[in-house]
Amino acid sequence: MNEQAWWWPISRVDDVGAQPQAVQLLGERLVLWQTDAGGVSLLTDRCPHRGAKLSMGRVQGDVLQCPYHGWRFGEQGHCVSIPAQPGFVPPASSAVCRHAVQQAHGLWWAVLGASTARSVPGSASASALGSAGPLHPIPQLLGLPARRLIYGPFDVATSAPRAVENFLDTAHFAYVHEGWLGDALHPEVPPYEVSHTSDGRPVIERYRAWQPRASASAQDGAWVEYRYEVLSPFAALLTKQGEGEGSAQDSYVIWACPQSPGSCRLWFAQYTTDGRTPDHELRDFQLAIFAQDQPILESQEPKALPLSGGEAMSAADRLSAAYRRYLQSCGITFGVC
Ligand code: FES
Ligand SMILES: [Fe+2]
Repeated sequence: MNEQAWWWPISRVDDVGAQPQAVQLLGERLVLWQTDAGGVSLLTDRCPHRGAKLSMGRVQGDVLQCPYHGWRFGEQGHCVSIPAQPGFVPPASSAVCRHAVQQAHGLWWAVLGASTARSVPGSASASALGSAGPLHPIPQLLGLPARRLIYGPFDVATSAPRAVENFLDTAHFAYVHEGWLGDALHPEVPPYEVSHTSDGRPVIERYRAWQPRASASAQDGAWVEYRYEVLSPFAALLTKQGEGEGSAQDSYVIWACPQSPGSCRLWFAQYTTDGRTPDHELRDFQLAIFAQDQPILESQEPKALPLSGGEAMSAADRLSAAYRRYLQSCGITFGVC
């Protein structure tokens, strides 16, 4: 599966604690857990003994203990002890598959089925992965405002690419976000150009929109300049800049974890120059916006994003069309049809 060539977000760093956490990535059930010493480990969430979920177990010092018969597994996934056979040294075949993780942008990221060598981005071994191809690095975020808030996780009953396409879509503002990001009296999408980065990711450098209430701190309607950039198959960046003097710059990133072909887990990160509005007001605004999007997203059929026809397009959907072509060029097969 080509998707094994990308790092995927699986959890907020702050959400990893004393309890093992069940996560799902590309249809695989995994357990993310932290040793008492702070080491973070991602294992397949299935005990090799009788198949119980290790995420229902508990952390004891530097091991994860299965809830069924108490077999204990170390950070690397090896079985260190079997309580019913105290003197027995478990063989290598009793190990659980471990997956590489790394931290970036306040989230933990994972690669499925990766060995230790693959956890080093850009290393020689990372470019020799057999069928999965070269491992793409986690997207970089350059030049964004320092104040960061992360919202989520949001578990959404649609595919990751449907959620990302919605993030890139402006034609719904007048309907789904009426009175906030759009105005029903002005649903037209002005002409815009889609360009591409040198590695083929779609970008809109400039998109100008009138918004009744563009941000948590907005008092009135205002012209807002948007810039869109697809960061990776299931991630995108949007930067909003108000036109008035001293208006804030807000950058938003959608990070989508493809859980199953018809479900995803999302985080939204906001990077803002607004140093005044309290965290809870910024959060409430984003939660209100996403609460408007979610029922529409979950109503879409099919849940997989059609890449080869089957949905009507208009000229206002140029960015969606470019995003779909980009997914095709990446060889994405999960959550698309
Ligand atoms: S199923 Fe895990 S110890 Fe038996
Ligand atoms: Fe929306």
